Formats: sequence, C-alpha cells, structure tokens
Amino acid sequence: MDVHVTDVWCQSVPAGFSIQVQPSITVQEGLCVIIPCAFTADYKTTFTNSTGYWKSDFETNIASSNTSVPIVKENFHVTGNPDNGDCSLKVTDARKQDTGSYFFRFEGSKESNIKYNFLAHKVTLLVTDLTQKPEISNLGHLRVGEEVTLTCFPPGNCDGIHPTITWWKDNLAGIWGKSSTVTFTPLLSDHKTSITCEANYPAVRSSTQKTIVLDVQYPPSINIFIGPSGMIANHTMVLNEGDSVILNCSVISNPAAYVTWTKGENTVVSSVTGQGLELYLMDITSRDINTYSCSAWNQHGDTSDFVDILLQPKNEVPVTKLSFETSPTPAPEIATVSSPQCGPREIDFIILGAFIAGNILILSLIALALLCCVRRNMKKRQEAIINNGEELSAQGTASVYKNLTE
Ligand SMILES: *[C@@H]1O[C@H](CO)[C@@H](O)[C@H](O)[C@H]1NC(C)=O
Ligand SMILES: *[C@@H]1O[C@H](CO)[C@@H](O)[C@H](O)[C@H]1NC(C)=O
Ligand SMILES: *[C@@H]1O[C@H](CO)[C@@H](O)[C@H](O)[C@H]1NC(C)=O
Ligand SMILES: *[C@@H]1O[C@H](CO)[C@@H](O)[C@H](O)[C@H]1NC(C)=O
Repeated sequence: MDVHVTDVWCQSVPAGFSIQVQPSITVQEGLCVIIPCAFTADYKTTFTNSTGYWKSDFETNIASSNTSVPIVKENFHVTGNPDNGDCSLKVTDARKQDTGSYFFRFEGSKESNIKYNFLAHKVTLLVTDLTQKPEISNLGHLRVGEEVTLTCFPPGNCDGIHPTITWWKDNLAGIWGKSSTVTFTPLLSDHKTSITCEANYPAVRSSTQKTIVLDVQYPPSINIFIGPSGMIANHTMVLNEGDSVILNCSVISNPAAYVTWTKGENTVVSSVTGQGLELYLMDITSRDINTYSCSAWNQHGDTSDFVDILLQPKNEVPVTKLSFETSPTPAPEIATVSSPQCGPREIDFIILGAFIAGNILILSLIALALLCCVRRNMKKRQEAIINNGEELSAQGTASVYKNLTE
C-alpha cells in the first residue's frame, strides 16, 4: 500500500492516518524548543524499522530519525521514535532563517511500504528576537559576612544549547565570573551594587542579560552625637542649666531598625528608621539628669549605647547663655540649637519681647517659640517616617521634644 499523497491541494487525510501537533510555535532566537507530536499510520502507532522525517518541502529533509540520512538543518532533531508513533521535533539554537513551515513524513519498513506526508498538518515555526532574560537565583538572603552562591539560569527552554555565561559586578573591574554560579561573601560596600549575568548564544551571535541590585542586610550600628557640640567622651555629657541640646542617635542599618530612646527606664521615643533618631532636650534642669540610652534592633541583631547627662555645678556657670541686653540684633546662640526652619522672623519677634520683659520672660518665650518650632518640625519629620527608614534620605531622622512625652 502506498498512500504517498502528492497533491498538496488535496489534503484529505486517508483513513487510519492522523497526527497531533500544534500548528504553530514561536521560539526566541538562540533558544530551544520541543514540538511534541504523535501520529498514527494505517491505524497503527507501533512499527518496526520505520523512519521519521521532518521536511520543509518534498525534496528537503531537515531532520530524520535515521542519522545516516543527509539533512539540511543541523539544529533540527527528530527526538521522537517513529516506531512508537512519536514524531516530536526539537529545534536548538533557533535562528531567524529557521522560520518556516514544516511537515512530518513517515516511512514504514521496506516490507510494510507505508509512506505518508502529513501535509495537512504543517507546523509553522516563528523565530523572534531574543528578549527573554536570565534568572538569578538566591537573592533573598544576602547578609554581610555570609557566603552566598548566586546561580544564573539563562533562558533556554530545553537541553541542547549551551550559552556561555559571564558575570559582572559594577564595583569590580573586569569579569566577575564565567560559570553559571558565583560564590562570594557580601561586604557592607556591596549593598546596592549591581550585578549582571549575561548569557551568550554564539551559534546565533545573540546575547541577553539580567542585572539586579544587591540588597545586603546587616544588623544596626549606632553612634550617639550631641547636637550642636558633637562627640561624647566616656558616655558623659556635662551641660549647663538652661542649655538645649539634641541627642542624636545615628543609625546605620539594613533593613531599617526599630530605634528607641530611653530616659532611665522609660521609653521616650521610638521609630523605625534607617538613619537616626533625635531627642531634643530643651532648657536643661536638674530633672533632666539621667542616663539616656539609644537602642536599635532589626532581624539581624541589636545594639545600644548611652550617655549620662550631668549638670555643671551652678557657681561655675553664667546665669544664662542667652542675653539680648547689649544689642537688639545679636547672633543668638539659640539659632544653633534650633532647626533651620526656625527662621529669623521668630527670633525677631522674641527679641522685640526682650525689650518689654525681663530675662525670665525672654527665656520662657524662647522656649515657647522653640517648642512650637520643634512640634512643627517633628510633625513634618514623623510624617516622613513610614515604616521604611532605609528609603528615607535627609528627612529620615526622627525627633522628639522631651516635654511632649513626659
Ligand atoms: C529490521 O531491520 C533489521 C536490519 O536492519 C532486520 O534484520 C530486521 O529483520 C528488520 N525487521 C523488520 C520487522 O523488518
Ligand atoms: C538510513 O538511511 C540510509 C541512507 O539513506 C540507508 O542506506 C539506510 O538503509 C537507512 N536505514 C534504515 C534503518 O532505514
Ligand atoms: C574616661 O574614663 C576613664 C576611667 O573611667 C578615665 O580614666 C578617663 O580619664 C576618662 N576620659 C575622659 C576624656 O574623661
Ligand atoms: C542626626 O544624625 C542623622 C544621621 O547621622 C543626621 O542626618 C542628622 O542631621 C543629625 N541631626 C543633628 C541635629 O545633628
């Protein structure tokens, strides 16, 4: 029986012959695709000594299950065994010029004499630009000092293609790695570093790459500064009565830390921040003498530090640091402890008051003005603190005025 159908236009399929294959398939240049396919011939799905071919036209074998048959496309492979009714086709290193229509031809053993072109069920292969990107694994858990292995999975879709892999790291000159994995121990300086995995498909001269930004996490570290004067020696700060200072707990942390200021045993203020937490101490009195501790916590660890605030014995100190007696436009020291938003307008207003009232009144007015200013600032700043201190920049520092929480 020879059911060799030669009339392309007459595609009625003789009884007993059928094929199941998708009519079209798309693959990106350089990648691989398997086209599953099953057929029956003469009502059967098992044969002996049969041969399967994929052809682009009657003359051209592009792939054959008989490896001795000359074929025109080295990157097309009949992977199915036609003896089992399997006509699956694999295309590796897909090229643009592989785009086209293909059909399966079955030839039974010489004795059976079954030959059939499944012309009614051509497969259209479309090869498009390479846009798929590699995947990079194992990024969730980068920690300072902990060795980690990153794996690059280039797009491929099936075995049989072997792109070359190249890794780049933007704080490193030259190639970082040349295999599918890189192992390294992240440093603090690796945080926010970009790394790139590039997959190259030399057979088709195309490449694709994926860049990711490292999120290297670490436990918080803190430093307590006193504004405006600066560093603290021996955890001790001796202040004069009436002084105003900002205790600044500066935090370095990823992810943002939960930061707390305590006065003695009492929590005064806390915030989630990646930058710092300020505690304003205005018009120091003996009630402010205490140990102020700042502690910071994130899931990688915690730390704390403290400062003891002491008062200078009274006889050694001038009664007040602020005096407007000599000139109506002094450079008031208060401007250095207030935040920049406390413009000269408020100061002028205060100074006007200075001529009317005595020193005591001046001080209380100043304290009041400062309080308003601090309240305003604090509101602004706290609005800026929204559970991700890491993202906060200049306004990332929280602050509080002590009298608000006492
Ligand atoms: C299959 O081919 C082998 C040799 O290639 C032959 O010995 C065998 O008889 C053939 N079997 C059938 C069923 O045609
Ligand atoms: C395979 O193809 C070669 C060359 O066309 C042919 O000589 C040989 O008989 C074929 N083998 C089978 C098992 O069909
Ligand atoms: C810090 O404390 C130590 C011991 O308590 C003392 O010897 C040292 O002089 C202090 N340093 C300063 C700068 O106060
Ligand atoms: C407190 O520390 C933070 C972070 O170091 C800094 O941005 C801020 O300006 C400091 N505030 C003052 C008042 O020094």
